[in-house]
Amino acid sequence: MGYIVASDHAGVRVKTLVVEHLRACGIEVEDLGTSAKKPVDYPDMALAVAHRVARGDAASGILVCGTGIGMSMAANKVPGIRAAVCRSCYEAKMSRAHNDANVLCLGERVTGLGLIEEILSVWLDTEFEGGRHERRVEKIRALDGERRA
Ligand code: RB5
Repeated sequence: MGYIVASDHAGVRVKTLVVEHLRACGIEVEDLGTSAKKPVDYPDMALAVAHRVARGDAASGILVCGTGIGMSMAANKVPGIRAAVCRSCYEAKMSRAHNDANVLCLGERVTGLGLIEEILSVWLDTEFEGGRHERRVEKIRALDGERRA
């Protein structure tokens, strides 16, 4: 299963880099845009990706805005989504290994392009550890159930 990516106008450069990186790794990518400088609202882009990931259409999603924060706030409203803003390789590793994050959020105005490539590589290479973390992630999933009720 591939990846679904999107950005707002503040994240186009990094999204382009992400798409190229994923394709170079042989990963199938669906790019939902935006590809222009014309402003778009980050919640619209975040929800487009989050709903598809929650439905199981993709292994993971990647969202880019100016800070990554707005994207993560919006994406985390969708049941089944565990979106993590990562500004370091350590956060990328832990968000996968311990939190089983399924959406990576990046901030083009915060994190340099070189570091973003490293973060992406770590994210792609790290599996969820399960074990004691399974119980904790299950408690997050239970919150999704409460919101649906
Ligand atoms: C757009 O100006 C900016 O607010 C947006 O990209 C993002 O940083 C929001 O969290």
